Parts: sequence; structure tokens; C-alpha cells
Amino acid sequence: MRILEGLKRISDENLISFHMPGHKNGRLLSSYFSEYFKYDITEIPGADNLHDPIGMIKETEEMISEYYASDKSYIIVNGSTAGIYSAVMAITKPGEKLIISRECHRSVYSALILGGIEAEYIYPEIDSKSGAIKAINVEVVKENFMKYPEAKGMVLTSPTYLGIISPIKEISEYLHSIGKVLIVDEAHGAHLKASKLLPCDSISQGADISIQSFHKTLPALTQASVLHLNSKRVDRKKLESLLRIHQTSSPSYLIMASIDAAMNIMVDNGETMSENLLNIINDFNENLESHKYLTRMTMKNSVLDPMRIVLVNKENRRIDFHQLEMILRRDYHIQVEYAYDKGIVLIPSIANTSEDFLKLSKALDSISFENLIIMIQCDTIEYVKPVKRMSIRDAFYSESKDVNITDSSKRVASEFIIPYPPGVPLLVPGEEIDSSIIQFVLQLNELGFDILGLVGEKKEKIAVIEED
Ligand SMILES: Cc1ncc(COP(=O)(O)O)c(C=O)c1O
Repeated sequence: MRILEGLKRISDENLISFHMPGHKNGRLLSSYFSEYFKYDITEIPGADNLHDPIGMIKETEEMISEYYASDKSYIIVNGSTAGIYSAVMAITKPGEKLIISRECHRSVYSALILGGIEAEYIYPEIDSKSGAIKAINVEVVKENFMKYPEAKGMVLTSPTYLGIISPIKEISEYLHSIGKVLIVDEAHGAHLKASKLLPCDSISQGADISIQSFHKTLPALTQASVLHLNSKRVDRKKLESLLRIHQTSSPSYLIMASIDAAMNIMVDNGETMSENLLNIINDFNENLESHKYLTRMTMKNSVLDPMRIVLVNKENRRIDFHQLEMILRRDYHIQVEYAYDKGIVLIPSIANTSEDFLKLSKALDSISFENLIIMIQCDTIEYVKPVKRMSIRDAFYSESKDVNITDSSKRVASEFIIPYPPGVPLLVPGEEIDSSIIQFVLQLNELGFDILGLVGEKKEKIAVIEED
């Protein structure tokens, strides 16, 4: 089956979407895009240039900047990925150092390779019940900057994929007091500005740069993202050059127009629609209270995004969440965002209706959960911290070969090894594989964890640097 037929089949299912993109099958965008193909233009007279905007793009960026209270906001058509590359490389030179949270998105690691940047990692704690990565606190940030005072700044993810928000205000105040820069990967937080009932967005809490995937939580097309700059500590010209380097020279007007449409919606009705969604979610939560098997993820002393719905096991039973995802899709035409061993993640947006939630509640009430109970014990993994033998960039450019995991002791990893969940890299290219890591990988393999980066038919091999 080719792309067109495949897409038609999915679209014919009329899925209720609790996954990305935030426009939910075009619901809130359709009125803006009745002339779809006519809007797919390029830099003809009357249009503007993303890489040096002076007209319509500039005006839209100014509107975004006003709404998010930034010094300047930049439209990005290559996803938050391009914004993260640009932000990270704008505050460092090759050979300089950053402190990053170890679970950060791949794009942060790619930026280290592209920019020849060194990193020291903050290992986040993991919540045993939900498997979620906990917030980063200011104490651990201080410890790291005392140990590595030469670091130029830090990158952290907030909210995380599971909706956990770090104390950005405290962290940014500390970093600014020692002259460092804070970049927040806020790919999952573009909606936070809409209402005072939601946790604060990172720019309002002092982040120097934040990068938001509009397409994840707002009604915008896939890849539509925005970078906000709110700082005198960042060289704006360098940042703008890097955005030009990392983005296509043929930016899609459809993607850019969808950002403009999302902004119209947010400015005109975003607050009301978001508070309406929060009420709908509250009703859903109330209904869920009587559910025998599922409950919403909670975490002591942590700020959670109420719009990120993570359903986990109630009490000590264990549900097969992959099966649950499959049943919701097959029997109820509901597509969740992600299923893992300890829960399922749903991403609602203001494009979801109370009917969507009613259908979800009804589905969860009528599924026979007794048949989904499993015995497998997947306990939370305790991370082993490897030693760095070469920079991630040097490792990337070294020759590599695949060896059996059991033969990899004292070799240097040439690929990322990332167990999911929680998605925290166990090995980053350039780090040494020791016997405790080998044991750990074998144990995870046996427990059935999905481990990105292993190769071979039975995932029994690992890529290592060729050394003579
Ligand atoms: C935490 C985080 N940061 C960055 C990204 C990259 O965003 P984009 O897909 O818009 O490039 C993602 C994408 O999944 C993400 O989850």
C-alpha cells in the first residue's frame, strides 16, 4: 500500500484523536484552509521571506511575541528540532560545555554533535509507580554548576512528555545570578499560556529561550513550531543565522499559515476554550474515580500539566496497556498517543469535544479489564552511569562495528542505547560499556523493554567504535 491509499484508509476510520497533532484531524483549522492548495505559495511578490521577514511573516511573529510576552518570537517550519539545534549552538562555541538533563530529546544530542559541544548530564529521578521522569530541582542544578562552572548554560525539558513541569523560576534565577543561560525545551507546552488555571509557561518564569511545538498541543500543522527569545544574554544575530542554517530555504506557507490560524484561535478564544477543556477533563477525572483498574498519574510535590492525561494502574494490578491501546483503536476508534508498560498517554487539545471524552469514558467503562491483567513484573530500572571516553562528535565520526553485547566490555559505544520507557539514554556515543552496563542491558532485554539502538535479529548486538 502506498502513501495516498494508506492515508485514505486511516482517514476513513474517523478516529477520535487523543494524539498529536493538536488540530485533531483539522477540526479547528478547516475554516482557515478551505483554499488549501492556493495557499501553498513561495516567496513571490506580496509574500514574505521567513529568513528575513519584513511583511506578513514579521507581523505574525510580532503577534506571537506579544501573546507570549517574549522579546522576539520566530516561526519555525522544521519542528522544534530545528529550534533546539539553533538555540543550543547559539549559546556555545565548539569545545564549550553545557549541562543538560540526560533524558532530553534526541535533537539536543544532535545539536551537541553538530556544534562539537561537550555535555555533562543531570540524571533525573524516576517515579516508580508511573515510570515518569521527575522534575529537575534547583539544588541539583546548583551542584552541577559548582562542579562544572565553565558550562555556558543548561537545557532542560519542561513539561516532559508525561507533563511534568520543573521549577523554571528558581532555576532561571539561580542561573542568571551566575551569568548562565537557560534553554527550555517546551515542545509540549505551547498551550500553557492560554489560561491562568494552567501552570506557567517558561518564558514568564525567566527562561532565556524556549522552543514550542505548536503542532503538538495547539491547532497547527505538523512541524509548526516557534522559538521564543527573552534575553540579553543570547546573541540574537547568531541565533538568527543558525535558524537560517537549520531551516529549509522553501518554508511551507501552509505550515506558517497554520501558526497564524492557531494564534487567531488562541488570542480570540484560547482562554475560554482551554478552561472549557479543563472542565471537560475534570468531568472525565470524576468519572474515572470509580474505575476499578485505572487512575490518573499523580506525583508528590510536583507540578503536572492537567492537560496531559496519563492513566496508570490503580493499586497493584498490572494492565497490559499495549493491549488497551489496541482495543481502544480497534473497537472504539479512539487513538491514544502512547502506551507503555506502566500506563497510557493521551494528548487532548482545545479541538477535542465533550463527546470525545464521553466516548473515551464509555469505552474505558465497558472494556473487560479482567482480561488485560498481566503478570510480567517490569520494575523501575536503576540507572548505571557510564564513563565518557570520547566526545559525542568524535564518536559520531569514528568507524564502528557491531559486536555481541556480551563481548562489548570496555568498548566505546558508537550509538545511543535508549530503553523505553522512560527514554533516558543508557549509553551516549563515546561512553564506555562496562560489565554492569552489559548486565543491565541483558536484564532489560529479558524484561521485554524496548531498547532503541540495539541491533541484530534478536537485538543481541551493539555498535562500538573500531579501536586498534
Ligand atoms: C521533548 C521534545 N522535544 C523536542 C521534540 C522535537 O519536536 P519536533 O517534532 O517539533 O521537531 C520532541 C518531539 O517529540 C519532544 O518530545
